[in-house]
Amino acid sequence: MLDAIKNRRSVRVYRDTRVSEQQLEEVLKAGFCAPSGHAAKAWHVVVVRDQQVIDKLSGIHKWSKFLARVGLILVVCVDKDKQDLWIEDGSAFMQNMLIQATDMGLNTCWVMMREEDAAGVIHQVLGLPANIAVVAGTPLGYGSRVPAAQEPVLPADRVHFDKFSAPNH
Ligand SMILES: Cc1cc2nc3c(=O)[nH]c(=O)nc-3n(C[C@H](O)[C@H](O)[C@H](O)COP(=O)(O)O)c2cc1C
Repeated sequence: MLDAIKNRRSVRVYRDTRVSEQQLEEVLKAGFCAPSGHAAKAWHVVVVRDQQVIDKLSGIHKWSKFLARVGLILVVCVDKDKQDLWIEDGSAFMQNMLIQATDMGLNTCWVMMREEDAAGVIHQVLGLPANIAVVAGTPLGYGSRVPAAQEPVLPADRVHFDKFSAPNH
């Protein structure tokens, strides 16, 4: 498991090769296995393949522009009528998917899409009801430019035992 965690990197350039339905299902299932506050499990995920919708999502902010050139985007949402901890639940869902995808040799990139206002662009584009809050999105595919795996580091001054210890100056 640590291998998948180390290999997970944000990938923003993708090949045309599409993921299979089976791969997609495995990644989504990993999301639905995430921990959930009060066990609410009020997740929804929108699988976006329509280029017109992809183009609109790519325009939401300057860090989403690369999405215009990906074939598939997963948008993670939570029913905030059923879950007040929707940001945490949605984030756990996202991270599970990112690690599962990496383990399967696929690539991803967390893209900030947090939006709870039904008048927001993403709500309009995806036709989301007002109670469905968007947490984040990720492309899913085969990257063509994949950064190297990271080596785990344990910064001694940021790990605290029993009490927060101020750094020595
Ligand atoms: C909450 C969050 C929001 C992010 N939003 C974006 C984004 O909108 N666009 C993007 O290209 N990357 C985004 N990222 C990816 C980060 O830029 C990336 O994780 C960071 O640079 C570290 O690189 P790595 O993921 O390859 O380890 C986001 C990551 C997180 C956790």
